[in-house]
Amino acid sequence: MSDIKKRLSSILESPKQSTEEKLQKVCQLLDQEISYFNWTGFYFKNGDKNELKLGPFVGAPTDHIIIPYGKGICGQVAVSNETFVVPDVYAQENYLSCSIDTKAEIVVPIFKNGENIGQIDIDSHKINPFTEEDKEMLQWLCEEIGKII
Ligand code: SME
Repeated sequence: MSDIKKRLSSILESPKQSTEEKLQKVCQLLDQEISYFNWTGFYFKNGDKNELKLGPFVGAPTDHIIIPYGKGICGQVAVSNETFVVPDVYAQENYLSCSIDTKAEIVVPIFKNGENIGQIDIDSHKINPFTEEDKEMLQWLCEEIGKII
C-alpha cells in the first residue's frame, strides 16, 4: 500500500474522532501532499432531497453550498454514479465555477450499501493534472469512506 493510502487509512480508522473530523483531516492531508490539489472537499446528499450539500473541505470558500442533482460536475456525478475527470473545465458546458483559478476537476462518488450518498470533489489550478494513480487512489479512498460512514 502506498504511503498516502496508509496515512489516509490511519485517519479513517482513528477511534477518537467523529466522521466529520476524519473527513476534514482527509482533506487536509490530500491538500498538503498533492501540490495540484487546490480545493479538496466533500458533498453529501442533503437528507431526502435531490441535492448535494457541502461537507468538510480545504480551500477557498465556495458559493456552491447546495448543488441540485444534475447541475455542474458534482450534480452530474450524483446521477451518473461514475467518476468524472474534467481535464479542462472551460470545455465543459455543465460546470459550476467556484474560482477563476480552477482549470480542472475530478469528482468520485461515495457509495454506502450500493447507494450514491456523496462524493469527493477536487479542483486544480493546473490543466489536465490528474493521473490514473490519483483516480485509483481517490476511488479506493471513497470505498474506504463508504465503509465507515
Ligand atoms: N465545480 C463544481 C462545483 C463545486 S466547486 O468546484 C467547489 C461543479 O461544477 O459541480
